[in-house]
Amino acid sequence: MTIKTFGVIGAGQMGNGIAQVAAQFGGLNVIMNDIADQFVDRGFDTISKNLDRLVSKDKMTADQKGEILGRIKKSTNLEDMKDADFVVEAAVEREDLKLNIFRKLDEVCKLGVILATNTSSIPITRIAGATKRPDKVIGMHFMNPVPVMKLVEIIRGLATSQETYDLTQKLTIQFSKTPVECNDFPGFISNRVLMPMINEAVYTLMEGVGTPKAIDDIMVLGMNHPMGPLALADLIGLDTCWAIMDVLHKGFGDSKYRPCPLLKKYVDAGYLGRKVGRGFYEYK
Ligand code: CAA
Repeated sequence: MTIKTFGVIGAGQMGNGIAQVAAQFGGLNVIMNDIADQFVDRGFDTISKNLDRLVSKDKMTADQKGEILGRIKKSTNLEDMKDADFVVEAAVEREDLKLNIFRKLDEVCKLGVILATNTSSIPITRIAGATKRPDKVIGMHFMNPVPVMKLVEIIRGLATSQETYDLTQKLTIQFSKTPVECNDFPGFISNRVLMPMINEAVYTLMEGVGTPKAIDDIMVLGMNHPMGPLALADLIGLDTCWAIMDVLHKGFGDSKYRPCPLLKKYVDAGYLGRKVGRGFYEYK
């Protein structure tokens, strides 16, 4: 199947990044969907600002920017996905919501269209089970910030076909990203390894072992990480971090994955990280 029109569900930080790389590197027409105009408009503005940065650095012309934006159509109606040849869902990390979206996509999308999910930890096999096309459901896990990070973790569900895998891999390369294959297990590989480190950093903070800056400085200067675990949690979103730890904890039934109570407290307080201007740090 030739992919010309690419659907993205969710215009938040992951969704708008995926829409950008699909239009910019993939050269595809993109339908970017969210539940309300304000979210789609905000996502579109973020893409426009990202491209402005490239224009100001002479990495792209203003005309090229205009062409890329011209390929992105805004949508607040899931039915618009009837025109898509491939769909990636990048909605909030909540299982009930994702299952609902996949049920609807399965009804709306053409037969044969692959339905991928950018979930960071919810089992692909369970999401596939909400559709009548489990062979066409796959995990396509982009990293944040999407325009910058090279990896796409591609996760096979139990019933994912080889054809679905091959096409997803091909598209990833078309987006100038590097695909890495992984099987469907809680947290896949990326978050099974990353999140316990972030969670442990929050325990270190809770137990008063160090300030946020000390914890982050130690990992940046001592381990050569590009940013410390608490700053990274703020970038990812503390609600997402908590949701992933919860999936690991329940999925493995092992207390070593218990989410740190301080992480939950921050989420309850609405300190969700950069997206709201406050997490472990404050952002202007
Ligand atoms: N969107 C687009 N471009 C961005 C960007 C964004 N949000 N943030 C930074 N950039 C670009 C900058 O424009 C700059 O581009 P040039 O090289 O062309 O000038 C480049 O990225 C480097 O940015 P900065 O110089 O501002 O800052 P930096 O060197 O500190 O890099 C960073 C910023 C790329 C975020 C880096 O700190 C980093 O790699 N951090 C770790 C990120 C990470 O681990 N991501 C994975 C999170 S886990 C995940 O996403 C999966 C999950 O399921 C939770």
